[in-house]
Amino acid sequence: MKKRSIIIDTDPGIDDAIALAAALFSEELDIRLISTVAGNVSLEKTTNNALKLLTFWGKRIPVAMGADRPLLASPSDAAHVHGASGMDGYDFPIPDRSNLLAEHAVNAISKTLKESAEKITLVPIGPLTNIALLLRMYPDAREKIAEIVLMGGSLTRGNKGVMSEFNIACDPEAARILFESGLPIVMAPLDVGWKALVRPEDAAKIKAMGRTGEMIYALLQHYRSGDINTGFEMYDSCAIAYLLRPEMFEVAETFVAVETAGILTAGTTLVDLKGYLKQAPNVKVCVDINEKMFRDWLLAALKRCG
Ligand code: RIB
Ligand code: CA
Repeated sequence: MKKRSIIIDTDPGIDDAIALAAALFSEELDIRLISTVAGNVSLEKTTNNALKLLTFWGKRIPVAMGADRPLLASPSDAAHVHGASGMDGYDFPIPDRSNLLAEHAVNAISKTLKESAEKITLVPIGPLTNIALLLRMYPDAREKIAEIVLMGGSLTRGNKGVMSEFNIACDPEAARILFESGLPIVMAPLDVGWKALVRPEDAAKIKAMGRTGEMIYALLQHYRSGDINTGFEMYDSCAIAYLLRPEMFEVAETFVAVETAGILTAGTTLVDLKGYLKQAPNVKVCVDINEKMFRDWLLAALKRCG
């Protein structure tokens, strides 16, 4: 079977790490590049975490460092969710930095797209700063982008602001550039992440899976999106799950606007399911998820990691 070529733009991040595990060991995906961005923690730390994970798994995939701050918004982080390192809880080996490219992520993404024989799917699971810079610096890049499948936004409430989700709210202007680009976008919002859970019984199964399971279980002890009793929210894995098992999602094609001017609402995604704004659809939004299909998929995906 022909693998789907993807580039993952990420801010590891404990849920990013689990999403990367599911993607890196999938037989269906060809990860051409991992680009890092400031988000959960600083760019230095998210990059170090990406390298730690690749070293842990012995994977040779190029990594490129991207934006160390949002386009306009003040920098913020989610160390309270992921720990000061961004991946607290496990003593990783010293990262092999030979995976790290010298060029900026935006240039590396552009080059990877340009040199690719086929179109590539971009999978942003952090703030969208790198993606916005790519679209502004390399307008022709869009010709080689098959689709953009992202974790971000919310149909309802926020987790950074009252109404705004972290990845969008970190860099609302970058998100607006993407959502107004006309590119084919799939959005996995908080609302499906809240149902994409690692429940206590799943955590026990993961722990018994071996080296990767033990590492993930250790990270989960420090992850503060959800908890061991109600379940840990696997936001970023929803983007990977959509790539591999889209049938587990209910999807609505609709118009999504990103608020950038609101003093209290910047970063809110207005998912206009009822058409109040009278705009043509620009996003496929995952509005629901089959929880059991997700849990079965994630456990099977992590089991493959060894
Ligand atoms: O709101 C959840 C998102 O913010 C996830 O990508 C998580 O890793 C954090 O970056
Ligand atoms: Ca993330």
